[in-house]
Amino acid sequence: MPFFVNNCTFVADWNESRHPSVHSLILLIMKILLLGSGGRESALAWRMSQSPLCEELFIAPGNGGTHAYGTNVDMSPLDFEKIREFVKTRGIDMIVVGNEDPLVAGIYDYFENDPVLVVGPSRKGAQLEGSKDFAKRFMTDHNIPTARYRSFTADNIDDGYHFLESLRPPYVLKADGLAAGKGVLIIDSLDEAKKALNEMLSGMFGKSSATVVIEEFLDGIECSVFVLTDGNGGYRVLPVAKDYKRIGEGDTGLNTGGMGAVSPVPFADAAFMQKVNDRIILPTIKGLSQEGITYRGFIFLGLINVGGEPMVIEYNVRMGDPETEAVMLRVDSDLVELLRAAAQGHLGDLELREDPRAAVTVMAVSGGYPGSYPKGKEITGNLQPEGSILFHAGTSIDDQGRTLTSGGRVIAVSSRGDSIADALATSYRNMAAFDFDGRYFRRDIGQDLLK
Ligand code: AMP
Ligand code: GLY
Repeated sequence: MPFFVNNCTFVADWNESRHPSVHSLILLIMKILLLGSGGRESALAWRMSQSPLCEELFIAPGNGGTHAYGTNVDMSPLDFEKIREFVKTRGIDMIVVGNEDPLVAGIYDYFENDPVLVVGPSRKGAQLEGSKDFAKRFMTDHNIPTARYRSFTADNIDDGYHFLESLRPPYVLKADGLAAGKGVLIIDSLDEAKKALNEMLSGMFGKSSATVVIEEFLDGIECSVFVLTDGNGGYRVLPVAKDYKRIGEGDTGLNTGGMGAVSPVPFADAAFMQKVNDRIILPTIKGLSQEGITYRGFIFLGLINVGGEPMVIEYNVRMGDPETEAVMLRVDSDLVELLRAAAQGHLGDLELREDPRAAVTVMAVSGGYPGSYPKGKEITGNLQPEGSILFHAGTSIDDQGRTLTSGGRVIAVSSRGDSIADALATSYRNMAAFDFDGRYFRRDIGQDLLK
């Protein structure tokens, strides 16, 4: 692939090695494949498509809105063979992995010797999200503040009962493996908690709950911190966000993937973030390196502020959804340049500038979500209202070009503003621009932070 720097022509030899230092550092434009289909991927696609470095963007499989930023490709993010074929035939330079499943399944390792960059951790690194037991062990070994815990299997269930008896309610039980965001139970009564432990170990979440982590309950406000790391000690912290997980207003009812998000987070001030950096980010990056774990991608720290002290609730190995739909509105640097540098192992002195304005997203969901809900409802109205970006999540386009609902979380209405309140006012105003049968959204996103 020829390209031009200062009127000179260079030819990148991608067969040379996976991270061809000299060549790729001066490579200007890239063909990018983004994996995933949610609101997060819409926001990442939107941001990457604005980069002058983005020659061509493909999204696999994408959704009913991502074609506005690139080309949707009907391909599962877990079909590595098919992805390899696509990468070869289309000359893809970089794969950006939006969701966790391909990472936990080892997509980084699969492409390790191929001439394509992959933004994301190795399979081992992805265990930070893929196994709660691994993550807790990692935090304990590297002195990273987190809730006291123990792990149990069917073989030592009696020890599990005893451990529960030693804790104060509420009791926190977590399936070790991926469980589509449903694997955490928080239970008030000891008897119920013991029953739940038994059910989890008997297959409540299939193989994912063959091991169960039981931990102390932490009381505080949560926030999401995203770190882009190059695997060589270099990292950048993205704008901090807070998401709203419960379906009901006032944080009530069932957990969802996330009903909205705001950024910045007032309590995550400079003093708090200094503690996050010193006690959590640096030890995490150092720990990965000490354990010989390759990690060139996003680390998502699910944090809780316990009386001013940050503690880790969980790691994820990708960006958050819907946090990304707000955070991308505040990333003021070239995202493609940053991702490429991270994947090449050298963030160097690249800057990650934050837009000082606030950004929020409010999720319009299908009636019934997170339980069962209908699909195929037509979305009517204006999907490009002034002042907001409507990031599609669970949408599809039918033969007649109509936009239909195809998932629980349907559209993330994202806006900037001089303050969180201003940005929220714009998103809520633009909820009126479109509709679908049974639509629901929370009317109190961000309200806790405005008090
Ligand atoms: P996780 O999947 O680990 O993020 O857990 C889902 C949600 O459960 C978190 O966002 C918290 O709201 C809650 N949670 C998890 N662990 C704890 C804990 N140790 N103490 C209090 N809440 C927790
Ligand atoms: N919004 C939380 C997550 O993406 O896991």
